[in-house]
Amino acid sequence: MGLIHETDFGTPARHGAPVTLEIDGRAVTVPAGTSVMRAAAEMGTAIPKLCATDSVEAFGSCRLCLVEIDGRKGTPASCTTPVEPGMKVKTQTPRLASLRRNVMELYISDHPLDCLTCAANGDCELQDMAGAVGLRDVRYGFDGANHLDRPTDVSNPYFAFDASKCILCSRCVRACEEVQGTFALTVDGRGFASAISAGQAESFLASDCVSCGACVQACPTATLTEKAVIEQGQPEHDVITTCAYCGVGCTFKAEMKGNDVIRMVPWKDGKANHGHSCVKGRFAFGYSTHKDRATKPMIRARIADPWREVTWDEAIGHAASEFRRIQASHGKGAVGGITSSRCTNEETYLVQKLVRAAFGNNNVDTCARVCHSPTGYGLKTAFGTSAGTQDFDSVDESDVVLVIGANPTDGHPVFASRMKKRLRDGAKLIVIDPRRIDLVRTPHVAAQHHLQLRPGTNVAVVNALAHVIVTEGLVDEAFVAERCDTPSFTRWRAFVAEARHAPEATGEITGVPAAEMRAAARLYATGGRAAIYYGLGVTEHSQGSTMVMGMANLAMATGNLGQRGAGVSPLRGQNNVQGACDMGSFPHEFTGYRHVSDTATRKLFENAWNVAIDHEPGLRIPNMLDAAVAGGFKGLYIQGEDIAQSDPNTQHVTAGLAAMECVIVQDIFLNETAKYAHVFLPGSSFLEKDGTFTNAERRIGRVRKAMPPLAGLADWEVTVLLAKALGYDMDYAHPGEIMDEIARLTPGFAGVSYAKLDAMGSVQWPCNDAAPDGTPIMHIDGFARGKGLFTLTDYIPTEERVGPRYPLILTTGRILSQYNVGQQTRRTANVVWHEEDVLEIHPHDAEERGIRDGDRVALRSRVGETSLHARISDRMQPGVVYTTFHFAETGANVVTTEHSDWATNCPEYKVTAVDVRLVNGLSDWQLRFQTEAAE
Ligand code: SF4
Ligand code: SF4
Ligand code: SF4
Ligand code: FES
Repeated sequence: MGLIHETDFGTPARHGAPVTLEIDGRAVTVPAGTSVMRAAAEMGTAIPKLCATDSVEAFGSCRLCLVEIDGRKGTPASCTTPVEPGMKVKTQTPRLASLRRNVMELYISDHPLDCLTCAANGDCELQDMAGAVGLRDVRYGFDGANHLDRPTDVSNPYFAFDASKCILCSRCVRACEEVQGTFALTVDGRGFASAISAGQAESFLASDCVSCGACVQACPTATLTEKAVIEQGQPEHDVITTCAYCGVGCTFKAEMKGNDVIRMVPWKDGKANHGHSCVKGRFAFGYSTHKDRATKPMIRARIADPWREVTWDEAIGHAASEFRRIQASHGKGAVGGITSSRCTNEETYLVQKLVRAAFGNNNVDTCARVCHSPTGYGLKTAFGTSAGTQDFDSVDESDVVLVIGANPTDGHPVFASRMKKRLRDGAKLIVIDPRRIDLVRTPHVAAQHHLQLRPGTNVAVVNALAHVIVTEGLVDEAFVAERCDTPSFTRWRAFVAEARHAPEATGEITGVPAAEMRAAARLYATGGRAAIYYGLGVTEHSQGSTMVMGMANLAMATGNLGQRGAGVSPLRGQNNVQGACDMGSFPHEFTGYRHVSDTATRKLFENAWNVAIDHEPGLRIPNMLDAAVAGGFKGLYIQGEDIAQSDPNTQHVTAGLAAMECVIVQDIFLNETAKYAHVFLPGSSFLEKDGTFTNAERRIGRVRKAMPPLAGLADWEVTVLLAKALGYDMDYAHPGEIMDEIARLTPGFAGVSYAKLDAMGSVQWPCNDAAPDGTPIMHIDGFARGKGLFTLTDYIPTEERVGPRYPLILTTGRILSQYNVGQQTRRTANVVWHEEDVLEIHPHDAEERGIRDGDRVALRSRVGETSLHARISDRMQPGVVYTTFHFAETGANVVTTEHSDWATNCPEYKVTAVDVRLVNGLSDWQLRFQTEAAE
C-alpha cells in the first residue's frame, strides 16, 4: 500500500497539431502550444519547478525551470516556452544546475527550517526541489529581513494558511481564478512586502472564499494545508472513489491512514471534475464517522415504544415476518419499497428487484419522484431517452449557455466553475430564474439576459421564446426537416405562433419585459452553439414535464442537439438520481425505462429472476401515502431516504407513515422518517461499500470501499438478507456481480462491467456493442426514438394562487455548503457557513410587514406553518420569498402543498402561496418537533 503517484505535468494540456522536438537528445511529439516543461514531463523528464502546476496556466515567476535551447540566448523558463518543431532542449547542464541552486538558496533563506515537524514533511514541493537541485547549504544565513513571523490564519474550518511558509508562487491565486472562478485571493503589496491576501485583507472565512480547496491543492508548500493533515499526519494509502453528494459525480482519492479518511483529494483523471471539487466533496466527509451514526439494528412494536437493539438476524427476521403477515391479511399490494438516489446503482437495483420479485408487486418508487421524474418523462417523450444529452466537457464548446431554474454555483459547484470558465472565455449567458442567482453577476461573468420570471410561469416563458424563434424566421429548417417528426413540428409551429404566446401578450403573466424576452430568444437561436442546463426550478412544478418538453422543442427547433456545445442537460440533484431512475426504481418501469406491461421485457426479467412479475404498474410514493391514510397500505421499506423531511406537506407524509403497521428505515442516521419506523436497519456510507453511481451526464463511476461498514454490512448485503428472509433467494458475492446482471438485462448497460470501469475510470451509457466506450453526446445521427417529437405545451397556471390570505409566493432551493435534508452536512463544520434556514425577502415586502433583517417571521401556507429568521435581499423580486430545506427544525416542507406535476406527481415545491409576518416564537409544529427531539 502507499499513495498513488500522480504526475504533475507543470502546465495544462493543449490540443494543437503534433509538433516534434528533441529534449536531452530524445525525440518527443506533443500538441502545438504545449510547454517545453510539459513535453519533457510527458517523456518522463521532470524539470525542477515551483510556480508551475498543470491545473493552472504558467506564470514564470520562480525561475527554477530554466532550460537551454540550441540557438537561443540565455536560459528560458520551460513552463512559459512553447514547443517548436525541431527545437533542441537541454534540461540538465552545469550552468542550469548552478542557477537552480541559487534560486533555491534564496527561497530557503526565507523559509522556516522546521521540515521535521512540518505537517507537509514528505509532501512538500519546496523540500523536493531543494533535494532535486542538490542544495546543501544556504550562504546568506537566516538573519536578514524575512517573513518568518507572518501569522497563520485558521479561520477556515478545514484548512490553515501559514503565511510564514509562503513562497509567493501565486499558484493559489491562479487556482482560485482559473479553476474555481471565485477570485477570492490576490497578491497584496509590492516587492518584499508582497503577501497573499484573501479578499480585502480579510480572513479566509470572512472573504468571498467558498472553501473549494483548489488553492490548498495547488500550494506547493505547507502554507495552505488541510487541518486534518496538521492534526493527524500524512495519509498512507488511498482509494479512488466517487463523491456521494451532488449529481456532478466528482472522482476523488480518499487518502487514508488505517481506516480513517485524512483528506479527500479530487482526482485529476476524474472525467467529471478534472481534479476540482467543492467544499462538500472535499471537506464535508466527517459525517461518515460522526458519533450520531446509528450502527445497531433496532426494532419496536409501536412507534411510541423505545427502540430495542437486536442482532441483524432478529431485525431482518422480524421485518420479513411483519411484511408476510401484512400481505397475508391485507393483500400482496399492501407493502412497497422506496429506493434511494444516495445509494449505489447496485443497491437500488436490488431494492426494486426485492419489491418486484419478493414482495410480488410493483410498488417501488424513488426519491427522484420528487425531483427529476419530469425529466425522465419529458426527455423520453421528445428524444426517446430519459437523460441529458451532453457530457460536461461539452460546455467548453458552447457559444450560448441558457440556465433555467438551476443555481449551479450552489447546487453543482464544480460544473459551475467549468461553465464560468467558458463564460469568461467568451460564451454568452442567459439566466431564467425568479431569483438573481450568483451566476447572473459574479467576478468576470455577467449574464446578457436575466429573465426574472414569476414562479410558476416557466411554460409561458418557453412558449414566448419559441414564438419569437418561429415568427422571426429563426428555426433551423434543415435540422427539423431531417431529424424531427414533421406533423408534430407543423402543429407546434402553428401553436407557438399564435398571438397569445407573443412576449408582449405574456409579459403580464411572466413578469418578463417583452424586449428582454425577444433579445434572449434571438441570442439562443442565432448565437452559435447553444446549450440548455436546467434544474429543479424546471421540474418541481405542476407543469414540470410540460416545461421539459418545451425546452426540448426549443433545442430541436434551433438544431441545438446532437453536437458538442449544444443540448438539453438536467443538473441532477443527488449523486445517483440518474442511476436510481436508470435502475428501474419507478413503479411502471424496469431498468432502462422499459414498461412493466411490455410482455417481452417482463419475460426477460421473469426468466432471469425465476419469478412471475405483475404486469400492472405499482404505486408511486404519494399514492402509497394516500393509500396508507385510507387504510389499505401497511408496510414500507425505505432505503436511504428521509421522506418525512424531504417530501411535501410533511403532515400528510407523517400521517401516512403513522398509519402503517411496519415501516422499515435503512439509513446511516436515525432520520426524521425513523421516528415513524418499527424496524431500523443501519446503513453504510459511500466510504464503506463497493458499487457505482451515475452522474448527471450518464457517467457511471466506481464507488470503492475505503473502510469496513460501521454496522458490519453494506446496504446491498442487507437487501439480500431481507430477500432471503422473505423466501426469495439472491446470491451475489460482490456488487460487481449485480452489475453483471444489470448489464445482461439492460441494453444500454450491456457493455458495462467493473473491469471496464477499472480500465476506463468511468463510462457514459449507452455502453454496448454499438458504443463500447460509451456515449458522451447523444442523438448525433438521429434521436433514440427515431424522429424528435414536438409536443404542444399549453401554459396552465398552477392551482396554487396568491390572494389576500396568502399574498406571497414561496420558492425553495439549496445552498452551497449544505446538502438536501442536511443529515450529512449538518454534522460537519459546513455549518459555519449556513447554520439555519433563513427566509429571503425583498426589501419592499419586508418593509410593508415591519420586518427587519434577522427578525423571526412566521411562514404560513394553507397546509401548515413554521417560523425562521428573515434575510432582506434584493436577489428576490417583490412578492416572492425563498428558503432552503436543510434543517429539520425549520421544516420548510411543513408549508409546501400536495400540488404536483400532472404527468409524474413530482411535487410543486417551487410555488407555494404563503403569508409572512413578524412573530416572537416557534410555530406549534416546531414546538412539537422540539419536544419529540428532546424525548
Ligand atoms: S478555497 Fe477555493 S475559493 Fe477559497 S481561496 Fe481557495 S481556491 Fe479560492
Ligand atoms: S500560499 Fe502556497 S500557493 Fe499561494 S503563493 Fe504561497 S506558497 Fe504559493
Ligand atoms: S460538485 Fe458535487 S460531486 Fe463534486 S465535490 Fe461538490 S458535491 Fe461532490
Ligand atoms: S516553474 Fe517555471 S518559472 Fe516557476
